[in-house]
Amino acid sequence: MDVQKIRQDFYLFKNDNIVYLDNAASTLKPKAVIDALNYYYERLGVNVHRGVYKLSYEATDMYEQARAKVAELLNCQFEEVVFTRGTSSALNLVASSYGMANIEAGDEIITSELEHHSSLLPWQQVAKVKNAKLVFVPLDEDLRITVENFKKVLTDKTKVVALNYISNAMGYITPIKEIIKIAHEKKIVVVVDAAQAVPHMPVDVKELDCDFLAFSGHKMCGPTGIGVLYGKYNLLQKMEPIEFGGDMIDYVGLNESTYKDAPYKFETGTPIIASAIGLKAAIEYLQRIGFNFIIEKETELRKYLVEKMQELDGVTIFNPHTDTGIVAFNIDGVHPHDAASVFDEENVAIRAGHHCAQPLMHCLKQVATIRASLYFYNTKKDIDRLIIAIKKAKGFFDNFI
Ligand code: ALA
Repeated sequence: MDVQKIRQDFYLFKNDNIVYLDNAASTLKPKAVIDALNYYYERLGVNVHRGVYKLSYEATDMYEQARAKVAELLNCQFEEVVFTRGTSSALNLVASSYGMANIEAGDEIITSELEHHSSLLPWQQVAKVKNAKLVFVPLDEDLRITVENFKKVLTDKTKVVALNYISNAMGYITPIKEIIKIAHEKKIVVVVDAAQAVPHMPVDVKELDCDFLAFSGHKMCGPTGIGVLYGKYNLLQKMEPIEFGGDMIDYVGLNESTYKDAPYKFETGTPIIASAIGLKAAIEYLQRIGFNFIIEKETELRKYLVEKMQELDGVTIFNPHTDTGIVAFNIDGVHPHDAASVFDEENVAIRAGHHCAQPLMHCLKQVATIRASLYFYNTKKDIDRLIIAIKKAKGFFDNFI
């Protein structure tokens, strides 16, 4: 697989001299995805599930083929795929529906300080309303979630475990399969935030045996505004919708109504048609690239990046043993946002901030970090340019000290 050839699929790489290292926030979109979106908007542009005319049949077919593609990717049933606006909406759906109906006063919800806010806040809200308790897996010295530490907080009161599969701020892989196995021995439901996992490695929900899992399209070459909630069918069927209105109903009376089966009862109103079609194209694109190649490339680049950064004085890497292409660091004496602005002058796009993980920033004793996040289309040259930008930022701010 030739990366230079792959880069031709992306407008920005063909037409701009950009170094794009903010892939954990969102990835770039290849032409195949944009073509799929254009096809829908230009040739179809109509609603699904409603029209009895050819255009609507084709749009419906494309929308449902997208669901089938996600089911193939995750190795689950077609009916277990709920389209949502993104990972955050998917995790909120689980908490607002499953959580509010099943968590009672005194129950415990296990989560961690390594979570993205979208994995933490929905459960914080459930705990508040239900008078339940959030319990945090103690992180180890590297700030990882370990099976041993998970066992320490597991009690007879635990009802839900909500954890990330890969930390968006540290790039650690959670031993989620072992955690799920232990949780299931106590009949505890496990919700997995897989926003940083599904784009980067094969994720098989049957093998993991997770109860719920969420991810977003835009972090895997797909469009914004589309995400997926996978849920075991028996759980989805028992859950109440959290939005009510068009398309999700079976029969509507003046005072009582009945709803469709899962997943449709959760997809209220006109669905996210174009973005679902775009997501299918993105999955097909990644399947053509191949997850073996993606893992290989990211591993090679991550090693190179950490090595090059370790050669620099005055740079602190917070996760030198990261498992993925996410590397968090700071430049001594330089505010992360100032550093990122200097990087921007060098046309290096990178995120600085709390990465929607403020509790983790407290653990790191930092207000913010700079985060380089890689994808398969990055190159060693990108990393060399980042290193030059770091040196420039250091030199620039050293002059003011
Ligand atoms: N959740 C995205 C990130 O980690 C936006 O940057």
